[in-house]
Amino acid sequence: MPESFQNFIGGEWVAPAAGAYFENRNPAHWDEVIGCFPRSGREDVARAVASAQRGFARWSRTPAPIRGQVLQRVGDLLVARKEEIAHAMTREMGKVLTETRGDVQEGIDTAYYAHTEGRRLFGRVVPSELRHKWAMSYRRPIGVAGLITPFNFPLAIPTWKMFPALLCGNAVILKPAEDVPHTATLLVELVLEAGLPPEAVQLVHGYGADVGRALVEHPEVPVISFTGSTATGAAIGETCGRMHKRLSLEMGGKNAMLVMADADLDLALDGVVWGAFGTTGQRCTATSRLIVHEAVHDRFLQMVCDRAATLRLGSGLEEATEVGPLINEDGRRKVDYYVGVGREEGARVVVGGERATGKGLERGWFYQPTVLADVRAGMRVEQEEIFGPVLSVIQVGSLDEAIRVNNGVKYGLSSSLYTRDVNAAFRAMSELDTGITYVNAPTIGAEAHLPFGGVKQTGNGHREGGWEVYDFYAETKVIYVDFSGKLQRAQIDTET
Ligand code: UN1
Repeated sequence: MPESFQNFIGGEWVAPAAGAYFENRNPAHWDEVIGCFPRSGREDVARAVASAQRGFARWSRTPAPIRGQVLQRVGDLLVARKEEIAHAMTREMGKVLTETRGDVQEGIDTAYYAHTEGRRLFGRVVPSELRHKWAMSYRRPIGVAGLITPFNFPLAIPTWKMFPALLCGNAVILKPAEDVPHTATLLVELVLEAGLPPEAVQLVHGYGADVGRALVEHPEVPVISFTGSTATGAAIGETCGRMHKRLSLEMGGKNAMLVMADADLDLALDGVVWGAFGTTGQRCTATSRLIVHEAVHDRFLQMVCDRAATLRLGSGLEEATEVGPLINEDGRRKVDYYVGVGREEGARVVVGGERATGKGLERGWFYQPTVLADVRAGMRVEQEEIFGPVLSVIQVGSLDEAIRVNNGVKYGLSSSLYTRDVNAAFRAMSELDTGITYVNAPTIGAEAHLPFGGVKQTGNGHREGGWEVYDFYAETKVIYVDFSGKLQRAQIDTET
């Protein structure tokens, strides 16, 4: 009998109201059931919100430096449990151990950044236009924040949302992707062990259509942060707009690496293989397009194909594995569908293009790392997010054309340029229409202390990580103190 896990609501681990559960399976060995997790619904969410409001009343009054100390202990516990969490994460979502260790590290970095922010959380004091009057702003906690997170960074992305939200004094309700409930459970156990007041955090497992939706629609959840698909983000945005909620969206990407004629091709090769096939291509920052100058196109394409064809597939728990499985059957079907679309559009499958078979791969959601050549701007495989190990290669004649192709999609998360020409690098930095641009590095690799996010259909203007996210999770309050002892009218009683 697989182990049954629970929700964390009202300060205790509890069964879902309806008593229903779903199975969580290892995507590299689908016979292996990791556990059964609550299939929660509206009633569970309502209880979680009521409890989080009590948690908020207490936690929001705890001084921010003390809140920061709790997050420091969270960081320490993550350091101590890094290996254990990385293993659990690889087992439930498939990416290789080196990457799940990096995922935990991103959570550690986020925790320590949040800790120090507890002693900053700056407001401002500015001069008033009147004598004997002070004018200032400070940041107040908002309330209960609903956090809806994806499967691809099961530890890091919840921490990107949870730690700044908590540091700012909010209570949080986490709804993790149904593919990665185990990692979320380990995270919540750990923040409780670090000393977070139990009602300041709630964990509600289940499906987006039930739990996510109930959270977004609940009138007492004024803040929502969502990472996931652009389609779901649009639906969430409609509800939050109608209900005047504060909303941060991180959605799709169709990120490109631009390789110019003067690029260091060996360096670019390492970059594109890591960017395209790391996390089995399941990153919103994945390199899914390779835009190559015609002078080096044929040579570089050959180099990429030679390397992609030798990548070792397998369980991410085995140290020799370079590429793990896709997250589930739907994920693999989508990849296969897009490879078919690419073929019909006239792209040439030069490597991969099939479900992966062979020893050890029979009972997992494996797909061969795939390279599509002869892709032209405007094709669906050049425009739409595939979220798998598929790289579309587009040939261009100039930097101008490369920038145009890069910018010709509806997404704008990340971009990358390989060149040795400083002028080209600076042009790309200013003209590539993305939230993040890398020079001589792939499209993945964001660091926890810098703002993360994209333009166009990738986001809605907010950023995660770094200093900016602290503005999202706090309300600015302005204070004027008049100590002149008389009525001074702004704009009217000023001296000339
Ligand atoms: C994501 O793909 O959803 O820069 C997040 C990166 C990681 C974060 C990716 N640090 O690729």
